Amino acid sequence: MAHIIKIASGFVFVLVGLACLALPLTAVAGDTGCFTCHQYPGLVRLEKTGAMKVLHIDSESYFNSSHGELGCRECHTRINKIPHAGENKTTCQTAHCHASKKDEALLSASKGEKIHAGQQSALTHVKAQSSCNLCHPIYPHSKEVFARVVLNLHTTYIICEVCHYKKEKFEEISYDWITTDEIKFMGKPFGSFYDPRKKSTAKLTNTLSRIAPYVTKDGKKTLLMHSWDMGKTRVYEDKKTEMNLQQKKFGMRHLHRDIGKMEVVKACDACHAKQGMLDFRQLGFSEIRIKHLLNINTKGILQKYKTFYMPSIFGQK
Ligand code: HEC
Ligand code: HEC
Ligand code: HEC
Ligand code: HEC
Ligand code: HEC
Repeated sequence: MAHIIKIASGFVFVLVGLACLALPLTAVAGDTGCFTCHQYPGLVRLEKTGAMKVLHIDSESYFNSSHGELGCRECHTRINKIPHAGENKTTCQTAHCHASKKDEALLSASKGEKIHAGQQSALTHVKAQSSCNLCHPIYPHSKEVFARVVLNLHTTYIICEVCHYKKEKFEEISYDWITTDEIKFMGKPFGSFYDPRKKSTAKLTNTLSRIAPYVTKDGKKTLLMHSWDMGKTRVYEDKKTEMNLQQKKFGMRHLHRDIGKMEVVKACDACHAKQGMLDFRQLGFSEIRIKHLLNINTKGILQKYKTFYMPSIFGQK
């Protein structure tokens, strides 16, 4: 599927990489390149402990912060390839930063203080009448490194069923908005807070509109949300400790009977490409937004490379 590209051939692929980013060299050169991916709210990975690791960095808040004039790699000295999962080592003391004895005391006193606090946003709570939400966390993707956090950000915009239903099981699915009332954010709220087509003037911060699948039954448009298994799911969760392996397997297969899997490399083009499954125009997106969504730059990186090293994309480090 993807190629593994070594440092030796790095330069060539930096160029290819830039083509995928579809950004002018000047926009990508320097550490602002980090924002290509980290600009998106909702980029979250769940750690093994269940804790949320928020990877979003808001550029405006960053530039206004006390470290805003620094390039990211002044501190994140070891990040030079993609993906860079697990690369958390940072340096505060360099020849020109916090080098004095006084600063050393300051650094140890500020231990544990979150440098990026106030620059990050994520959805922390959403209640939907779908069985998926009874078992899976809001940020459900954990397997594919790199893709997982990008897939996870979609929770704010789309319900699980849009991507995961076996399309062939349902007749003529169409897509429209559904409003969810019970939501909470950390940082600034993001997403669509109202049905964009109703053009309501007030943006409500406690409701969120997300895209959902619908079918037409007896001439009536009906929401396709997996609410028909809520009862069975609760029974399964209650009884599962008493079940043997076979029963569990059977139960899981039944509760996932309508679920298919999208292949991750193909998944982005299912929507972020012309003739995708969602008609962005009909859903009420602006022309500027549509152009942006059809040219999402992270998708090119994901589709082409498993690992790609970019020694010079972020400057010489
Ligand atoms: C002054 C040093 C410094 C600079 C500059 C800096 N970071 Fe960080 N960054 C850190 C530290 C330290 C952490 C570890 C968590 C913490 O303390 O906030 C971190 C954590 C992160 C994380 C993981 C999320 C988290 O909160 O743990 C991401 C993603 C990140 N930084 C991206 C960036 C990007 C992108 C830039 C540039 C726009 C940047 N950083 C600039 C020091 C820095
Ligand atoms: C092409 C997209 C992309 C670019 C460009 C990018 N990152 Fe990341 N970064 C990611 C993704 C995706 C993850 C999460 C990987 C995972 O765990 O699945 C991540 C994770 C991180 C983390 C957390 C590491 C961890 O696993 O805990 C830090 C810190 C970070 N990035 C900093 C940076 C900095 C600094 C730059 C610029 C020098 C940068 N990133 C450029 C996509 C990107
Ligand atoms: C009774 C709890 C439960 C319910 C209900 C449930 N899941 Fe799961 N699901 C699981 C568990 C446990 C796994 C297996 C562990 C894993 O791989 O994360 C799983 C696995 C999956 C997988 C991966 C399958 C594979 O072949 O790798 C997908 C996709 C998925 N669930 C989506 C959904 C969606 C969408 C819904 C709602 C329609 C849903 N699940 C409802 C518990 C549940
Ligand atoms: C934007 C489309 C999209 C949405 C929305 C989405 N998924 Fe997925 N999901 C995918 C793709 C693509 C994969 C395959 C990735 C892979 O190969 O690991 C996947 C894989 C999974 C897996 C198995 C792999 C893993 O990383 O654990 C689970 C479980 C899962 N999804 C659950 C859910 C649940 C629950 C929701 C709703 C909260 C949801 N997904 C929403 C696209 C989506
Ligand atoms: C089922 C359709 C669907 C699939 C599949 C899908 N996306 Fe999306 N994506 C969307 C929609 C809809 C939005 C949110 C649009 C909005 O409300 O502004 C979005 C938002 C995003 C955003 C945030 C854009 C922003 O400016 O906030 C990124 C990045 C993204 N998608 C990347 C990807 C990648 C990479 C893949 C493949 C792994 C993927 N998407 C798969 C439909 C999809």
